[in-house]
Amino acid sequence: MFSKEQEINFNTLSAQFLKQESISSPELNALKDLINYLDWRYYVQDDPVLADQEYDHLFRLLKAAEEAHPELVSADSPTQRVAKGLNAAFTTVAHLVPMLSLENSYNAADLLEWDRKCKAFAGKENITYTVEPKYDGAGISLYYENDQLQRAATRGDGVYGDDITTNARQIKSIPLTANLSGKGVQSMEIRGEVIIKKNVFAAINEKRLAAGLSILANPRNAASGTLRILDPAEVAKRGLHAVLYNISYHTNQQQEDNEVLQSHYATLQWLDQMGFATPVKDMLRTDSIEAVIAHCAAFEANRDELPFEIDGMVVKVDLLADQETMGQTSHHPRWAMAYKFKARQATSKLEKVEFQVGRTGNIGPVAKIAPVHIGGVTVGSVSLFNEDVIREKDLMIGDTVLVERAGDVIPYIVKSLPELRDGSETPIIFPRQCPVCADELVKTEGEVAWRCININCSAQVVERLIHFASKDAMDIRNLGDANIKRFFESGLIKGVQDIYKLDFEAIGQLNKFGAKSVDNLKAAIEHSKQQPVHRLIYGLGIRYVGETTAKTLAKAIGDVRELKDWNEERLCSLEDIGPKVAQSLVQFFSNEDNIHLLEELDLLGLNLKNTQHNNDADHEGAFSGKTFLFTGSLSQFKRSDAEEQVEALGGKILSGVSSKLNYLVVGMDAGSKLEKAKKLSNINILNEEGFLKLLLDSGISL
Ligand code: IVH
Repeated sequence: MFSKEQEINFNTLSAQFLKQESISSPELNALKDLINYLDWRYYVQDDPVLADQEYDHLFRLLKAAEEAHPELVSADSPTQRVAKGLNAAFTTVAHLVPMLSLENSYNAADLLEWDRKCKAFAGKENITYTVEPKYDGAGISLYYENDQLQRAATRGDGVYGDDITTNARQIKSIPLTANLSGKGVQSMEIRGEVIIKKNVFAAINEKRLAAGLSILANPRNAASGTLRILDPAEVAKRGLHAVLYNISYHTNQQQEDNEVLQSHYATLQWLDQMGFATPVKDMLRTDSIEAVIAHCAAFEANRDELPFEIDGMVVKVDLLADQETMGQTSHHPRWAMAYKFKARQATSKLEKVEFQVGRTGNIGPVAKIAPVHIGGVTVGSVSLFNEDVIREKDLMIGDTVLVERAGDVIPYIVKSLPELRDGSETPIIFPRQCPVCADELVKTEGEVAWRCININCSAQVVERLIHFASKDAMDIRNLGDANIKRFFESGLIKGVQDIYKLDFEAIGQLNKFGAKSVDNLKAAIEHSKQQPVHRLIYGLGIRYVGETTAKTLAKAIGDVRELKDWNEERLCSLEDIGPKVAQSLVQFFSNEDNIHLLEELDLLGLNLKNTQHNNDADHEGAFSGKTFLFTGSLSQFKRSDAEEQVEALGGKILSGVSSKLNYLVVGMDAGSKLEKAKKLSNINILNEEGFLKLLLDSGISL
């Protein structure tokens, strides 16, 4: 899309604009182009070049200049993505070419059979195929005319869809302008899929949970639901992404055949160069159906490593001339075939609902279903999250339910099948008293969860203990859920401080607790005393304080107890801490009992201090200025330990592969990150041995 020289120019330009507090009107077009370039780097290439604050500064410069000169605002300005007001109801529009669906195949035999048919329909023995991911999102069609995005529509029934242009303009990976006329293309309708990447989806749900809202079931529903939200500002917040995979219609001003519009592969490469996100990076082009099958299998094995959900692969005949010869049925093109991955859905019976009390007193309904096998795992329990979900999904005990389990998304009930009811089903009664301590439950306005507010409720105490000892908190191995429950029930542990005052003799008397287990437990507890302080902060189980917030807090303090002097305003000045989290922290640290607990933990020998204080994030060390990322499963380290080592030496951990990455450490079964890193020349790719050597060379003793 951009030449090397252009990229260099943009770099110079951004350095220059970053120094400015305002721009003059002749500079406006250059700044507009620069921001479009930065959007492309960030949203399409997934490889940002500026920090968020720097980008925001440039955006503000443009906005201010446009406010001063409204006559210079053009529809393709990046500021014009930001919509004003609400969508009226969506109008129905006809697609220029109907959006067909795809025929499905499920195994190698199906693909071999299709290969034979393709050759027969195309009337030739050699066919080139392309294979690309089948994105699990919402179908979309975009119409461009005179290099401008004119209209966007949902798939609808394939013939008519909803006009969602305003919402599509919120999707930063959809270019508002593209130099299509450069290749003689005057108008064009393109097809693609709107998706929500897994990490974005997880972050949305984390925020929704913190805000007491119901969680979104899966990225697919979330994407299609978001396209229909009436408030475009809300759409913008959801971080949608669009991948384009087919030109369904175009008018061409060039008399001679356009060289880019000869094959599917060339078409997508061209769209890629024009700034669209396309499947090209994940695509295979081959003459061999066996290679097609192998590519499908490789992606299926690797699907959980991808940053987005896919439910299969799409195999297409590459040459557009062949596609034309082969034609289509009334339902699907003959030149394309979906290869569907193994189902991650199954039906089962909802046998009963249990109500569990969470760490913060929230009552979580859990559906017990007749165990079913889904994607290699047996599922018997499925969270129903809250009362609203039960009502919205119209669930009854005895219902047949459709259950889905996708990669790292926890299993959930997609829907009930009320048409299969026989009258024996009974309603699910949500309790109004805590199932453990029988206290009255409370529901705060604006929240979906019912809560038990008795902080001494034994279920909550046990959950808090489990959280404190858990892997991401104090990581006290040998003190898992079962032992905590046992020790609690036998009165050996009442609060976290008791973990450090355990009567090991009494434990030795317990059934199945040999001398070896006691020694292991003792050692694990002793070891936990020296955990870095962010683990303790996280382990305290303060509402809304997750691991990231705990790390942010730890970096800002010398000793946890200092937080009792921090007010909400000061807390909010820290990155990622908002009023809700701040309020919860103030509440926690103004409670005398909690401060007393911290004093006691200090006396018991726990680490309450940030040993890296003041020289933390940017402190000097052998890895200063170096960035690392770990991928695949490591055999010699725990990933979190390896990351801590890097940070302790002044290095930084990145979340994805980009040109800013210096070292990619690769374990077993590394996936797409490794592939991506191989394409970038500046990244050092190390195996575990190599990383170990680097650590030793830096003088660390292991
Ligand atoms: S091509 C005429 N390619 O799957 C060809 N479709 O089950 C049109 N989909 O309606 C489709 N990823 O919404 C194509 N790489 C891909 C796709 C893809 C996802 C969706 C699309 C289609 C549905 C069919």
